[in-house]
Amino acid sequence: EKDKELIRGSWESLGKNKVPHGVVMFSRLFELEPALLNLFHYNTNCSPTQDCLSSPEFLDHVTKVMLVIDAAVSHLDDLHTLEDFLLNLGKKHQAVGVNTQSFSVVGESLLYMLQCSLGHGYTGPLRQAWLNMYTIVVAAMSRGWAK
Ligand code: HEM
Repeated sequence: EKDKELIRGSWESLGKNKVPHGVVMFSRLFELEPALLNLFHYNTNCSPTQDCLSSPEFLDHVTKVMLVIDAAVSHLDDLHTLEDFLLNLGKKHQAVGVNTQSFSVVGESLLYMLQCSLGHGYTGPLRQAWLNMYTIVVAAMSRGWAK
């Protein structure tokens, strides 16, 4: 319950500005794992990562990611209702060439974004609460790789 309060409380302000926060998250992701950039086929010829990140397709994906996080936050009491959706989302990511190991780097980038935007509000328990939720989301997506 404490976890849920921490997540909801921090998402209240972040969730109102999804795209800029998502851009911080993905800038970090591509800094940590530049090869992931190549999986976005709609952007083969933008050399500085920054150019990619401001393209409409990227912003679209960033928005999609933030909406999935938003859905998870709204369903903290019944995350299992998202299981089928997340399994299918996992399948789509397998199809575009993502591998499940990359999700830990995505998680790090999510925490980085939270740290940047929350400042002193980014505490140990808050970090752990987000990590717990993220782990559930990723576990559900990862089932899309099985079989
Ligand atoms: C779709 C890449 C992580 C949510 C896609 C597509 C690509 C992609 C190439 C298809 C093109 C598009 O729709 O823009 C990646 C990469 C990731 C990543 C490289 C990092 C390893 C995530 C995460 C989430 C997410 C963490 C949400 C938790 C979505 C959604 C779609 C999508 C909702 C649309 C699926 C649909 O068409 O039904 N992703 N993605 N992605 N991604 Fe990601």
